[in-house]
Amino acid sequence: MRSVGVVSLVGLIVGVGILVGGAIEARQAGKILISHRGASAYAPENTLPSYELAIQQGADYVEQDLQVTKDGVLMCLHDLTLERTTDVEDVFPARFREVTVDGKAVKQWPVADFTAAEIKRLDAGSWKDPKFAGTRIPTWQEAIDFMRGKAGLYPETKAPEVYGKLGFDMERLVLDQLKKNKLDIPGVDPKTPVIIQSFSAASLKKMTDELKTKVPLVYLLDGGAENQQYMSADGITKVKAFASGIGPNKNLVLTNPDLVTWAHRAGLTVTCWTFRSANTGTFASVKEEMSHYLYTLKIDALFTDNPDQFPRQK
Ligand code: G3P
Ligand code: CA
Repeated sequence: MRSVGVVSLVGLIVGVGILVGGAIEARQAGKILISHRGASAYAPENTLPSYELAIQQGADYVEQDLQVTKDGVLMCLHDLTLERTTDVEDVFPARFREVTVDGKAVKQWPVADFTAAEIKRLDAGSWKDPKFAGTRIPTWQEAIDFMRGKAGLYPETKAPEVYGKLGFDMERLVLDQLKKNKLDIPGVDPKTPVIIQSFSAASLKKMTDELKTKVPLVYLLDGGAENQQYMSADGITKVKAFASGIGPNKNLVLTNPDLVTWAHRAGLTVTCWTFRSANTGTFASVKEEMSHYLYTLKIDALFTDNPDQFPRQK
């Protein structure tokens, strides 16, 4: 009788988990799929069509890179400037700044020089494919409204120090917006969990120590000089003070698989970036590459441009 009762209880728990939604189901299975800028292999990155496709392809979380406009609105865009992924050069031909890159004069159109309304005039889809012509850059609020109940949110604060120098408190903007949407407490909306990521340890420390957020934070590692202090069994434990996980560039894990063991021993999750069919290195396919990281190197989660290729099981 007792074993039947246990089996029934397990069945009930599993059943409830499935009812709660795809994201929960996937997390119970243990490996987490984060779509990188949406399903960005197939649709223009950080746009609603890209986010929609990511959800259709089974993403547990959808990433949004965040920038701040002149009037303090958080918008979804990877770059600090608009020219790579929009027609800003045609719409606002005179509004550039000239900067020197590698000794050459280059024109740039910084997000922070434009209001949200101005940025809404830009075409952010044609650069990817003419079929996406007219696609707009979403505000973060539009992205939240679009994804709520369908997948988790995985915002990245891009260059918070740059925006700080311009007078914006990016960390507070992000956390206030989550609070306004009642998404600032873990577990409050099981279908829309939130994880914040940043390359800036200072920014994450501010969110932890000063702003007292309870939202899980992931510290992105690119292997630069700043990161070297964390590249040991002892060093990685320092991350625990301001984040619940690390997000290393995948090459860092390939060259130093111990990083995963050290992080797990410290109680930190490991989420690698970025897996894309356009560049799989020595692996035959992006699916094979992701499988190696998830099931051989034993990372917990990953960012991919190709959510449809995510290997749910080995
Ligand atoms: O956020 C993880 C990964 O996206 C970091 O690289 O440059 O694509 O934002 P990036
Ligand atoms: Ca990112």
